[in-house]
Amino acid sequence: MRFGTMTLQSNLFLSPLAGYTNLPFRLTVRELGGLGLATTDLVNARSLLEKRPKALKMIETSPTDQPLAVQLFGSIPEEMRDAAIYLESLGIQSVDINMGCPVRKVCRVGGGSAMMTELSRTAALVKGMVDAVRIPITAKMRLGWDEQNITAPELARALEDAGVAALFVHGRTREQGFSGTVNLSGIGAVVRAVRKVPVIGNGDITTPSAAKRMLENTGCAGVSIGRGAFYNPWIFQQTLHYLNSGELLPGLDFEARVRVMCRHLDLMVQIFGEALGCRMFRKVAPWYAKQFGPANEFNKRVVLLSSRAEFDEILGHYRHWRSQFLEETGELKPRFRPVPVSTSFMAESGNTPPAQRIPVPKGPVEVW
Ligand SMILES: Cc1cc2nc3c(=O)[nH]c(=O)nc-3n(C[C@H](O)[C@H](O)[C@H](O)COP(=O)(O)O)c2cc1C
Repeated sequence: MRFGTMTLQSNLFLSPLAGYTNLPFRLTVRELGGLGLATTDLVNARSLLEKRPKALKMIETSPTDQPLAVQLFGSIPEEMRDAAIYLESLGIQSVDINMGCPVRKVCRVGGGSAMMTELSRTAALVKGMVDAVRIPITAKMRLGWDEQNITAPELARALEDAGVAALFVHGRTREQGFSGTVNLSGIGAVVRAVRKVPVIGNGDITTPSAAKRMLENTGCAGVSIGRGAFYNPWIFQQTLHYLNSGELLPGLDFEARVRVMCRHLDLMVQIFGEALGCRMFRKVAPWYAKQFGPANEFNKRVVLLSSRAEFDEILGHYRHWRSQFLEETGELKPRFRPVPVSTSFMAESGNTPPAQRIPVPKGPVEVW
């Protein structure tokens, strides 16, 4: 897929998830294949220019973590421009602008979703960035502030004129938060509003079939996956295979999932140090466990994780405990098999119980 000056291996993107899409997770997903471009968590442009250690850690990358986009937020045109110039000088391949974040902290300073209500000011800010660098500048938005204010098509046109290389659209309004259904026709309206800039659809993709449905239904050029990648890091490889061959790959077994989970933890320890890496992994491991079958014995211990060795102990104990739910073949007994999560826009009858929807992670970013 053409993406500004770059050619990507696939039209599948990793959405920024603050607190999750850090270097260890990106490397874990990349090793499994299928990913076209990954994006960092959002980074405050001013903090980056001030070289705040936290901001610098957020843009930490490695030669195998490519191609990479850094997502910026901020509303001061000069700061956004200078941050883009700085990122280009570091060799970052693309810069994404956050326009769809409903967190109060971001909207208060005029960034995030607030940008969508001030069209010409936003277009000027973006143009300032586009003119200052050679790497692609992209923008990520929601459909609008609320149902009555679906501004994405108009904003998309203005941003195309300002020179963005691609647009990411989460098919919900700011008011919706993460509730309700992803609006495929809303994404389609953005696709139709622009002349040639690629539009990447986003929201609730948890399976290869959901990715295909969004691509076909909206005419978008690619799809971006956030929580679905946490739920299933193989989703890019599986989706690429499905889009190319029409064949759905079989699901992964427990041992394969454990191997990747351990690899993810090892990278966390390597990149953040053992104490912090293990602490950060407390909220990551339960995502892997969602597909282990009964996992309360694992989850209740892993939330206290403090060392790599302890993780092996927890896993050993869990394997033993989990064996009561297995058949002789080593498969989970049918009644203990996890119920797959549903995708809002794939629900045939429209009455899928909310419990089966992909969860929105808890924590300081709860309101994304
Ligand atoms: C925990 C969490 C953190 C997020 N952080 C960001 C972020 O930093 N920047 C951003 O543009 N969107 C962020 N989002 C929104 C996602 O990128 C994405 O648009 C949204 O989750 C819908 O896609 P999904 O259903 O595939 O997860 C975040 C979402 C969640 C759940």
